[in-house]
Amino acid sequence: MGSTEPRPTNTRRTPGRLLFLFAFHAALSGAFIVAYLTGDEDTYAMHQFAGYTALAALAVRLLAGVLMPVGPLRLPRPSQAATLDWLRRVASGDARAWGQRSPLLAWMALALLAVVGAAALSGAVADVFVPMEKLHEALGEFSLPVVLAHVALVVALLGLKKVAGWRARSNIRHEVIAP
Ligand code: HEM
Ligand code: HEM
Repeated sequence: MGSTEPRPTNTRRTPGRLLFLFAFHAALSGAFIVAYLTGDEDTYAMHQFAGYTALAALAVRLLAGVLMPVGPLRLPRPSQAATLDWLRRVASGDARAWGQRSPLLAWMALALLAVVGAAALSGAVADVFVPMEKLHEALGEFSLPVVLAHVALVVALLGLKKVAGWRARSNIRHEVIAP
């Protein structure tokens, strides 16, 4: 497609779609943190409320992704080839790869949706089918390192982007100073 042609409307990052993603992220992360901290018997009512809120947020996100399979709301579709290529370019010091959107984000989003989704869904099952509790507790515990790895990756990619920006600016300065 030529660069002067307008993008199809369903692929656009409209304010409404970005707001939806922002609201989804806020609801899920808030509910996740509360659910994780209240898994104990004494705080069960709060755990139940936060857990079902997380489950509802994930269900709405899944529905939006199914209804809008292109554009910012589409569900993550990681590509192994793109990821390997990006990692190779990052390792060889290609500053453009450092600054561009990383294909690792799609793997990260998929892992988060799957693991947090499994934790929330198994909790709902355990609510009516007690033998499921052990599996739910294991999935709940496992979801924390996945979420922490998510935050670490977001921060690391932001750092990489910043370094790429500094390098680009200092290269321009050298070109301007050099005769
Ligand atoms: C300091 C805390 C956090 C920060 C800075 C953060 C930041 C981000 C950012 C920047 C993205 C978008 C990545 C992209 O461009 O594709 C993202 C996606 C995501 N985050 Fe977080 N996050 C945080 C905490 C959490 C928590 C606690 C959860 C709980 C489960 C969470 C779940 C997700 C999910 C599921 C996605 C994928 C969204 C989607 O594709 O629909 N995040 N996060
Ligand atoms: C993302 C959502 C959720 C997370 C991260 C999560 C996490 C946890 C964790 C870590 C535990 C173990 C706590 C401990 O060992 O002290 C636990 C226990 C439990 N959770 Fe969840 N949970 C979630 C959603 C739900 C939902 C939706 C329900 C449905 C009501 C639920 C029901 C339970 C039950 C019945 C237990 C056992 C409580 C007990 O020991 O008596 N969870 N959860």
